[in-house]
Amino acid sequence: NWTMENFIEYEIKKIRETVGDKNVICALSGGVDSSVVAALLHRAIGDQLYPIFVDTGLLRKGERESVERTFKEKFHMKNFRVIDASDIFLERLKGVTDPEEKRKIIGHTFIEVFERAAKEIPNAEFLAQGTLYPDVIESVSVKGPSATIKSHHNVGGLPERLNFKLIEPLRELFKDEVRELGRKLGLPDEIIKRQPFPGPGLAIRIIGEVKPEYLKILREADAIVLEEIKRAGLYDKIWQSFAVFLPIQTVGVMGDVRTYDYVIAVRAVESTDGMTADWVKLPYDLLERISNRIINEVEGVNRVVYDITSKPPGTIEWE
Ligand code: XMP
Repeated sequence: NWTMENFIEYEIKKIRETVGDKNVICALSGGVDSSVVAALLHRAIGDQLYPIFVDTGLLRKGERESVERTFKEKFHMKNFRVIDASDIFLERLKGVTDPEEKRKIIGHTFIEVFERAAKEIPNAEFLAQGTLYPDVIESVSVKGPSATIKSHHNVGGLPERLNFKLIEPLRELFKDEVRELGRKLGLPDEIIKRQPFPGPGLAIRIIGEVKPEYLKILREADAIVLEEIKRAGLYDKIWQSFAVFLPIQTVGVMGDVRTYDYVIAVRAVESTDGMTADWVKLPYDLLERISNRIINEVEGVNRVVYDITSKPPGTIEWE
């Protein structure tokens, strides 16, 4: 009979037999799937696992630290490594404004950085990936609209260039089963219940060119949005909630001084799969708190707007 306990036991046995005394690498993103893969592999083969986390410089506030806390401190993954590649990503994104072009650059750079890091790992023969059942299906059927409208960059597609044998222990699972598995493996709610976050990160939440100055503003504003949504008890009930940076300046007044600063858009949507979505009717007092805090606490912003567009006709992200 199929239970999660049996599944774990069976997979661990299978992984050990497959891997033998070789090492396994995996790309950790901080999302549910790659985290569950890492936790499962670590339980099976311990320090033969080399998880790699690439800091693209496009992450949210505190994200890298939170991943380090979980995998280094809580799970004691001795061979966990963080590659700080933010300079390369930001350099390559300089002057680039087209959303698809940004995605392509980020995707290629990610593979390049990961490849370089992977080459340094001794005796590595396997690459573990968090491919889920729906991904398996999608790759053999006709691509849906979201796949063709925006080229979604995920960690998938890594193996072709790298000469690794694949380990995909989640291949037969659906998302909610992956969450249950993660819970059984001791992953924190912070990861299990995390709202989806796109591979290209904050780069597609800055309209047009990505600049360090914009990233700094967006990171702070986004942290406030998430903090207030969590405090209101809404985080788990919403598909995605986040801030978007608009590189336009508008006139405002602070005290008796005229300001000319940037705009932050707040986005919150309900959805079951990201294919369609409704904007969330957030309580006015929550919106007010978010707006006041962003304007008071984030230097460079003097206006906050709320996105009231559903999908379709809008998309969830602004790019
Ligand atoms: P859109 O904006 O197309 O987003 O309505 C639908 C879902 O996909 C996510 N998204 C991405 N995820 N790479 C990703 O890994 C991408 O390039 C990308 N673009 C959008 C988005 O956050 C939403 O959950």
